[in-house]
Order: sequence, then C-alpha cells, then structure tokens
Amino acid sequence: MRPHCLLVGACGWMLLIFLFVSKFLSSRSGDDYGQGYTLPASKLVKPVPVVIYPEKSDLETVKESVATPTEGEWQSVSEKRMELLGAMCRNSSSGLRNLTHVPISKFVLDRIFVCDKHKILFCQTPKVGNTQWKKVLIVLNGAFSSVEEIPENLVHDHEKNGLPRLSSLSPQEITQRLNTYFKFLIVRDPFERLISAFKDKFVKNPRFEPWYKHDIAPAIIRKYRKSHRNSELAESGLHFEDFVRYLGDAEGRRRLDRQFGEHIIHWVTYAELCAPCEIHYSVVGHHETLEKDVPYILRAAGIDRLVSYPSIPPGITRYNRTKVERYFSGISRRDIRRLYAHYSGDFQLFGYQTPDFLLN
Ligand SMILES: *[C@@H]1O[C@H](CO)[C@@H](O)[C@H](O)[C@H]1NC(C)=O
Ligand SMILES: *[C@@H]1O[C@H](CO)[C@@H](O)[C@H](O)[C@H]1NC(C)=O
Ligand SMILES: *[C@@H]1O[C@H](CO)[C@@H](O)[C@H](O)[C@H]1NC(C)=O
Repeated sequence: MRPHCLLVGACGWMLLIFLFVSKFLSSRSGDDYGQGYTLPASKLVKPVPVVIYPEKSDLETVKESVATPTEGEWQSVSEKRMELLGAMCRNSSSGLRNLTHVPISKFVLDRIFVCDKHKILFCQTPKVGNTQWKKVLIVLNGAFSSVEEIPENLVHDHEKNGLPRLSSLSPQEITQRLNTYFKFLIVRDPFERLISAFKDKFVKNPRFEPWYKHDIAPAIIRKYRKSHRNSELAESGLHFEDFVRYLGDAEGRRRLDRQFGEHIIHWVTYAELCAPCEIHYSVVGHHETLEKDVPYILRAAGIDRLVSYPSIPPGITRYNRTKVERYFSGISRRDIRRLYAHYSGDFQLFGYQTPDFLLN
C-alpha cells in the first residue's frame, strides 16, 4: 500500500470514531438525567461557574460573574429564598391562598423521605433530578455503601431500599421529625418541569410505564382534544396542547386526577407535593443553580464529608427559554393563561418570573 492510502484510511477511521463519540455524547444530554444518569460519584461536585437564571430574589445578591461563591454568599441567596417563601405564605390577602396553602395530608407525607441517622427529611419533586438525592439518602441510611452500588430498579422501590416515607411513622414520630429535622426540597421553573414530565412520560417513557400511554393519554385526549375519532386515540398519542388544557382545567381535572392516582405526582404543583407553607423547610434548592445548591445543602445538612452527589452534566440544569417557547408555540393564550393560573402559586412562592412572553 502506498503511504497516502494509509493516510486516507487513517483519517477515515478517525472521522468514524469522532462521529461515534460525538453521537454518544449528544445522546447523553437531556433534562431527565435524574432517571438513570449514572456517573462516577467518587468526587464531590465542584462549584462550577454558572450563569444565574434570573430569579427575582437572587438577582440583587449575586452577580453573574461570581466564580465560586463562598459559603456565606450562597447562604444569603438561600436565606432570601426562604424569606420570600415566608412572605408569600403569610400574605393571606392574596388570591393565591388555595394554590399555596395545602394541608399536610397522607399524600404529602408519602412524598417525604426520612433519614433518621442524620436527621434529614427530603420532599420529592419529580422531574427535578430527585433520583440523585434519593441515592444520596439511601447511602446515608446504610443500605448501600456508595451511590454507584445502588441498582437503578431499587432507587424507587421503597419497600427494599431502606429509605422510608414519613407516612410510615406514627403521628407523634412525624411531628417530632417535622419539628426538629433538616428539611429540603428542590424546585425548577414550573413550565420547564411540565415539559420534562410530558417528554418523559408521554413521548419517551424510558422506564416502560405503559399506563401513561395506554390509560392516562387516551383519557386526556377524549376529554380535551377538540376533534378526535375513537379509532385514532391509541395511535395519535398525547399532544402537549392536550396536556396543557387538562392541566389548566381546575374543575374538570379533579375527577381525572382521582382516576390517575399517584401518577399525577409528575405534574401536580410543588405546593401540593410538599406543603411548603405548612412545613418549615430549611432549604429550597433550585435546579437552575444546582451546581451551587448541592454543596450548600450537603454542608447545611452536615453530610458533606460523608457522601457525594453524582457529578452534574454541564449545562443540563440551565433554563432554556427557546425550548419553552417552542413547546408552547401554537397553543392558545387562553389555555396558557389557565395553565399559569394553576401554577402561579409555584412561580410566586419560589421566585420564578412570570413567563410574560407566553401570556401576553
Ligand atoms: C400580597 O399579595 C398582594 C396581592 O397579590 C400583593 O399585591 C402584595 O404585594 C403581596 N405582598 C407581599 C408582601 O408579597
Ligand atoms: C381557588 O379558589 C377560588 C375561589 O374560591 C376558586 O374559584 C378556584 O377554582 C380555586 N383554585 C383552585 C386551583 O382550586
Ligand atoms: C434549548 O432547546 C432547544 C430546543 O429544544 C435546543 O435546540 C437547544 O439546543 C437548547 N439549548 C441548550 C443550551 O441546551
């Protein structure tokens, strides 16, 4: 073989390898990494400089150029969030009250996981990267010695993974823990969360949960799609527009939600999941600033030397307005305003800006 043939051959191979690697890398990005993104967890997450998503409460205190925030700086961001939450909860004059004040029901107690050894309660908010936090708590409770050892199918199996729900305890035990433990939850932009839930349950369905496509989607289509033929229900699949109509229909969705049972945890409000006006959480982390919230929460909970949080794929937590605009394009203002009305409590309690670009 002549040398230039060898050269061409080698370049061809390199091109193939490059294509393969870049395809592999791009297929790993996405916003549902919480469902099965496993990376070596052996090192602590380093606080990475991130552009801060404009949240009302954070903008005044943190400049975008801050590289690694000191503990004190992030503590003041966190305190501001808690002040805003407290003020919104106290504001009984606001018409939001029934969107923000939720009794501590069995449904709420089912959402909260208990780590007695380190006196921690964690309220699960699906579609916000919670799987990783559950793994952290499973390790702390001692059933496994590191995050990587936990089999994926065990993370959500609360009979076997040694991570009890608060609802499994007696009323006295519950009250004592609510009053004394470190309590936290993580939130993200409410509309981005709904998009993530829609994609994860009705488009991709990576964990093969057939009831979303076979039971829930047809029920929503039957009630909310403007025109449909029964024969089309199964094949056509749920459109985001159908989903938005269902979510924004305060009256009509009650009966459906009862029928859907626990599956609704993927789209009911943070307020309904975690009762943040009744339970005095210690910290509310934001998915958009997870790189800073993770080390802060680990320190505040006193577990930063005991366990590490799996590393966060770069860029994955950032708010993507283009994506939000794309999903809502073609959906009527009226339907979007109704949707916002239902989720406005979550926007306001946690300092997320009203998405005026969709409403007006
Ligand atoms: C209380 O709610 C009202 C009505 O929504 C609002 O105008 C006012 O600014 C709120 N006050 C606080 C302290 O948030
Ligand atoms: C909140 O209360 C108002 C007035 O009582 C009611 O019209 C509205 O449907 C309620 N919203 C929700 C989400 O329950
Ligand atoms: C934002 O979303 C759009 C549409 O889904 C996508 O094409 C783009 O790559 C995303 N941008 C980032 C920074 O992830």
